[in-house]
Amino acid sequence: MRATTTRSVVTGGAGFIGSHLVELLLQRGDQVIVLDDLSTGTVSNLAAVADHPGLEMHQGSVTDPAAVRGATRGADRVFHLAAAVGAHLLVDFPLSSLRTNVHGTEVVLEAARETGAEVLLASTSELHSKSTADRLAEDADRILGSRVLSRWTYATAKSIDEAFAHAYWTELGLPVTITRLFNTCGPRQTGRHGMVVPRLVGQALRGGPLTVYGDGRQTRCFSYVGDVVPAMVALAENKHSKGQAFDLGGAEEVSMLELADRILAVTGSTSPVVLVPYEEACSAGYEDARRRVPDNTRSHDLVGYVPSTPLDTMIRRVAESLTTPGNESPTPAMAEMPAS
Ligand SMILES: NC(=O)c1ccc[n+]([C@@H]2O[C@H](COP(=O)([O-])OP(=O)(O)OC[C@H]3O[C@@H](n4cnc5c(N)ncnc54)[C@H](O)[C@@H]3O)[C@@H](O)[C@H]2O)c1
Repeated sequence: MRATTTRSVVTGGAGFIGSHLVELLLQRGDQVIVLDDLSTGTVSNLAAVADHPGLEMHQGSVTDPAAVRGATRGADRVFHLAAAVGAHLLVDFPLSSLRTNVHGTEVVLEAARETGAEVLLASTSELHSKSTADRLAEDADRILGSRVLSRWTYATAKSIDEAFAHAYWTELGLPVTITRLFNTCGPRQTGRHGMVVPRLVGQALRGGPLTVYGDGRQTRCFSYVGDVVPAMVALAENKHSKGQAFDLGGAEEVSMLELADRILAVTGSTSPVVLVPYEEACSAGYEDARRRVPDNTRSHDLVGYVPSTPLDTMIRRVAESLTTPGNESPTPAMAEMPAS
């Protein structure tokens, strides 16, 4: 039992992963301050804890230093998850997304330094861009896509976030931990912004074709939000994590065609699977990463991270979440971009 209440700020706390993190921190007895502009997150994601006395909700942007200072004043730690998430938002809204993902992170790091809070930064496997290495270890070389393709700008922005975090640690001594999340899925994730699991599950539930982009042989290792979020907290609380990045990815590598088949089997859907060329689904010249395989050794060795939830269970839980009243299933018009 902790002697004093820990004050934890969660930027992006009304989002998919953020809302699961907020629930866990409240369960553990933290005072939790959410800072979210509700651009992709929703108040309904926090419905289960809306009346919790430990929860404080601030609607505002991480790009607004006054809003960030207001939320972080007196905080012990800041979990920085707010971001324009995924390649698609960077393609559609490059400027505002870059401002959120680069400037917003600097504002958060600076506010944390001023108030003396520790920081956990949510980064992404996207940072590896085109690398198809067997295991994408945290400090491995990256293979970057073209600067002129907005699709890769998410990776660039998150790389700069990590560089900022590292510089705040090495130069200013700010205790920062970086968690590099791979494709994370689970309840409350929507296919609205192209995330592949809820997008395909939504299509299966509606009985329409499952649209798989490209040749469908690109692979990912999906991890479950219920495995990842406790590991994020454990890493934030470990004194040996500071200044380092930690992969938090899934265990099973599947191609998008295999994923579609698994979704059909789990949901009992008889929908067809249709391949859609990238240039039809996305902008001309769109590229996707062929492969993303995490190396979870470092996070396993430090905090015992094991991605234990099987893919079929993840699919089932996403399907349950999408059919829960109030949780919308993605509409085809909203689901036009490949997830990464
Ligand atoms: N879901 C994944 O597979 C995945 C993979 C790798 C990394 N990540 C990272 O995890 C974090 C959370 O992602 P998510 O999947 O929950 O996405 P999400 O879109 O559900 O959550 C992002 C949250 O940030 C909020 N937000 C956006 N811009 C903001 C701003 N300017 N100010 C304040 N709040 C803002 C949104 O409203 C939303 O609630 C992000 O940093 C993302 O880059 C996610």
